[in-house]
Amino acid sequence: MPAVDVQNHPSLQAPKRTQPLFSPGTGKDQALVIFVLGGPGAGKGTQSENLVRDYGFRHLSAGDLLREEQDRKGSEFGDMIKTYIKEGQIVPMEVTIQLLENAMNATIAESGNRKFLIDGFPRKMDQAVKFEEVVVPSRFTLFFDCPEATMRERLLNRGKTSGRADDNEESIKKRFKTFVEQSMPVVNHFEGQGKVVKVDATKEPDEVYQEVRRKFTAEGIQPEQ
Ligand code: C5P
Ligand code: MG
Repeated sequence: MPAVDVQNHPSLQAPKRTQPLFSPGTGKDQALVIFVLGGPGAGKGTQSENLVRDYGFRHLSAGDLLREEQDRKGSEFGDMIKTYIKEGQIVPMEVTIQLLENAMNATIAESGNRKFLIDGFPRKMDQAVKFEEVVVPSRFTLFFDCPEATMRERLLNRGKTSGRADDNEESIKKRFKTFVEQSMPVVNHFEGQGKVVKVDATKEPDEVYQEVRRKFTAEGIQPEQ
C-alpha cells in the first residue's frame, strides 16, 4: 500500500539508529515512557487526560500525530496516512516512530518535561521492538481491557460528533480486526516481560481512573499533587 518509500526517506532517519536516543528515567539524556494500549474506544484518550492533569505527563497520541501529519500542508505522507486510517490499517512504523520522536524532542526542548504517555502505540510488534531499540525502552504498558460490544457502542456515539473518518460501522470492524491480530500480540509480548498494567475499562470513567491511580501507585509512579 505505501506509495512513498518510507524505508529510505531522508526525513525518517530515526528508525535507522542502532542505540536508543534516551535511557529510561527523567534526568539528562533520559525519558520516561508509558505506553497506553487498548482497543479503539477503550478509553485511552480519556484516561490519558486524567493522568496528564494529575501526574504531569505529556500525552502523545500516535493517532492524533498521524492525523496532524495527514493534514499538514506539504506533507509527503498525507495521502498514505489517510488511506491507512480509513482502512483501519497500521501506518508503516518509520513514519509513526519519527513523529513520536520529534514530538518528544520538541516537548523536552520547550518545557523540560521528560514524562510521556504514548497513547495508541505500539499497535504492531515491529513498532514495539523498533521504538524500544532506537528511542527508549518503556517503563510499562497501561492496558485498558474492554469487550468489543462496549467499545463499538462508545465509538458509534463518538462518531456523531468526532468528525473522524473511521468512527463508522465499516471502519470500526476493520479496526477491531487489526487490534486483535496485530496489537494484542504487543500486549502479550510485554506481558511476558512482566511489563503490563491491566485495568478493567468497562466501568464509568471515574471508576476506571481510580483503578489506574491505585495501579500507578503500586508501580511507584506518584501524582504531582
Ligand atoms: O489511536 P487512534 O484510534 O486515534 O488511531 C487511529 C488510526 O491511526 C488507527 O486505526 C491506525 O490506522 C492509525 N494508527 C497507526 N499506528 C499507531 C496508531 C494509530 O497506524 N500506532
Ligand atoms: Mg485516541
